Amino acid sequence: FPVENIRNFCIIAHVDHGKSTLADRLLEITGTIPKGNNQQVLDKLPVERERGITVKAQTASLIYRYNDQDYLLNLIDTPGHVDFHYEVSRSLAACQGVILLVDANQGVQAQTVANFYLAFEAELTIIPVLNKIDLKNAQVEVVSDQIHNLFDLDKKDILKISAKQGTGVEEVLKAVIERIPCPKFDKTKPLRAFVFDSWYDRFKGVVAHFAICDGIIKEGDRILCNSTKKNYEVTEIGIMYPDQVSTGVLFAGQVGYAMMNMKNTDEAKIGDTFYHENQTVKPLPGFKEAIPMVFAGMFPMEHSEFLQLKSAIEKLTLNDRSVQVRMDSSPVLGQGYRLGFLGLLHMEVFNQRLEQEFDASVIITAPNIAFKVKIKGEKNIKQYGSEELLVLNPCLMPSIDIITEYQEPMVNGTIISPAEYINSITELCLNHRGRLKDQSYIDDTRVLFKVLFPLSEILVDFFDKLKSLSSGYASFDYEDAGFEITDLVKVDFTLNGREVEELTLICHVSRARDMAKRVCERLKATIPRQQFVIAVQGKVNQKVIAREDIKAYRKDVTAKCYGGDITRKMKLLKSQAEGKKKLRMIGNIEIPKDAFIKILQK
Ligand code: GTP
Repeated sequence: FPVENIRNFCIIAHVDHGKSTLADRLLEITGTIPKGNNQQVLDKLPVERERGITVKAQTASLIYRYNDQDYLLNLIDTPGHVDFHYEVSRSLAACQGVILLVDANQGVQAQTVANFYLAFEAELTIIPVLNKIDLKNAQVEVVSDQIHNLFDLDKKDILKISAKQGTGVEEVLKAVIERIPCPKFDKTKPLRAFVFDSWYDRFKGVVAHFAICDGIIKEGDRILCNSTKKNYEVTEIGIMYPDQVSTGVLFAGQVGYAMMNMKNTDEAKIGDTFYHENQTVKPLPGFKEAIPMVFAGMFPMEHSEFLQLKSAIEKLTLNDRSVQVRMDSSPVLGQGYRLGFLGLLHMEVFNQRLEQEFDASVIITAPNIAFKVKIKGEKNIKQYGSEELLVLNPCLMPSIDIITEYQEPMVNGTIISPAEYINSITELCLNHRGRLKDQSYIDDTRVLFKVLFPLSEILVDFFDKLKSLSSGYASFDYEDAGFEITDLVKVDFTLNGREVEELTLICHVSRARDMAKRVCERLKATIPRQQFVIAVQGKVNQKVIAREDIKAYRKDVTAKCYGGDITRKMKLLKSQAEGKKKLRMIGNIEIPKDAFIKILQK
């Protein structure tokens, strides 16, 4: 294929607006998959099929005949959920244009806006497409107006389709060819292959997805990795059609996969450049690092499984670069990791993928977010290495005596909703410490709010509340907005006066009492009764702000053994001693590991 006949494009949209369905239709029309066999072909991961969402961008190459010429169309299907925006920006780097898909029934939603701006800032050609026009309630005119008003796109350029029934889908392919420019890459220049995705395949080892920016790459070539300077022989190369089909060669402008006998998962970093041995080329700019929003500890179910977990995490993070990994350890859970995620859904999906794709069984601790503090005193600053500290783990927060300032992470939220819910949404935002920055109508009946929130306020139940008060009609999206000075406290928990450091949490002053109460109640519900009363307390600066009591309970494992049989008694004592190994002792209080895990888990 000459470069002029290649198009690289993404489909971007709000969750459930029909991206994967449209991708299926495009694959069918171009004969890439047989008709009728159309169950979201590009959602390949088990977690995607179970949850019915896309979490990983996927590539497929299509061949389409138009005006007596064959075109190679490289399609990237991207996720819609806010937690996976990183995947979208990554995919856009390999494209010259996007299909912006909008549900004609729901209209423009918060993630439509966010995704539009990602494409707009990357200066890509945008093809607006209205989907689901087969629905009775489709509001083609209204939604076209929204698209025009919000994004300044011409109404006559908007395509109208039903991805489900196939109506108008052929027009989409034509628009891709006519409106999206071909990649501006040069076959005659030295090779530059950009890694925009990579993953670990249990049978084939590391597989890299390349976007070939210049030159030609063939099987048997020796290529060099820019960041490690290690060199490899290309053992197989090809396109995704829609599964791996070996072609032996890839040219500038194409995207495809490559295998190079890489065993170590750290060698095909997303954002890296590969080139031919003995050539010097300028590497392509890599990706911006993802900024993790929530952190949680991840530990093996049994201490002995640590190495297994380590290898599983290494392989999965090869495929998901947005996860931040650091070592961690806990008195009860042993050696493990502290991982940073883009959101709670991202964390759940990562956990599920570890279990499904790598057979790892893990314990995840309750998630927390990062805070910043400033400290005083030359000696302290020297000890901590800096005046401003990022606190990822609440129990590592410095003593309040030396803290001069607290900062919490903020996000810019976008809410789109029918106008009748304005009052209740405003109230909800205020209750979550939100500050309204802007409010505007995007058509006669819908309102767009811009609200600045503390991240901690929107992570857990904000979206559920928003959905329920708007009968499901409001949508929400957010992006990082840096840190802001605030008033935080550290809440410690004690059992009969002994501190349980794993439970320490940091929160806004106004939330301390509620949080402390909730944790105390949970402790009461999970810790089994013992032979004495246990006082469970939540404290701020040594002052008790919440308390629960766990009543006493007498237990005597040998009581049943009347007199004589000493071997039976020994046996029972031995098994109890073994059980003790699975306990975390806090003073003289025994907490079975599984109860502890229940408290720590989210
Ligand atoms: P995520 O991957 O989670 O972001 O979703 P998606 O955008 O890929 O949406 P998907 O293709 O999974 O479609 C969501 C739902 O809309 C499915 O139940 C589809 O059957 C339905 N759907 C998609 N296109 C159409 C259409 O043209 N008409 C109708 N009536 N339903 C459609």
